[in-house]
Amino acid sequence: MQDIVSRPYTSDDLAACLAIFDSNVPTYFAPEERADFCRFLESIASEGWPYLVLTTKGSIIGCGGLAVEPERKRASLAWGMVDKASHGQGLGTNLTLARLELARAMPDIAELTLDTSQHTHGFYEKFGFTVSKVTPDGIAPGLDRWDMTLRLTKA
Ligand SMILES: CC(C)(COP(=O)(O)OP(=O)(O)OC[C@H]1O[C@@H](n2cnc3c(N)ncnc32)[C@H](O)[C@@H]1OP(=O)(O)O)[C@@H](O)C(=O)NCCC(=O)NCCS
Repeated sequence: MQDIVSRPYTSDDLAACLAIFDSNVPTYFAPEERADFCRFLESIASEGWPYLVLTTKGSIIGCGGLAVEPERKRASLAWGMVDKASHGQGLGTNLTLARLELARAMPDIAELTLDTSQHTHGFYEKFGFTVSKVTPDGIAPGLDRWDMTLRLTKA
């Protein structure tokens, strides 16, 4: 896909990000996760965490960020997603590489974690994440939770 631009999330992007979430229900997200995602988006400004939106021709087609825990020297890939209609076009890779770059630029961060489902752990394995724990039905009934980690190598 062409003309992809990433920029920081603003509160005006809330509805567009929730629409991307909705496009991925029920295969990738359970409906009951929506309230958590909404709370996360509303807390970004006060937490100061980086959260990006991917746009093409002014429309938001992907979003994702980092939840940073400097005291534990780690950050988590948080709420990364691409609009369902645009899967398989390299956007998830774009979003993941952008977040890896952000994390590598944080001097206090040595490890990245994430939790995802049985449907997407294979995607994150491509970036070197390894599985630390699998919890059947850990996200919601029918949606297993896969915890994954990546040690960061600094440039
Ligand atoms: C996971 C996700 C971000 C991938 O985005 P995408 O734009 O479809 O992925 P890309 O087009 O960049 O794919 C890159 C590579 O990963 C592979 N891939 C894509 N999705 C995959 C998946 N779910 N499982 C395994 N491999 C996958 C592609 O085949 C491609 O492989 P290749 O380089 O060998 O051709 C997307 O499926 C998504 O938004 N899912 C819903 C949200 C979600 O579950 N997020 C998880 C964390 S909260």
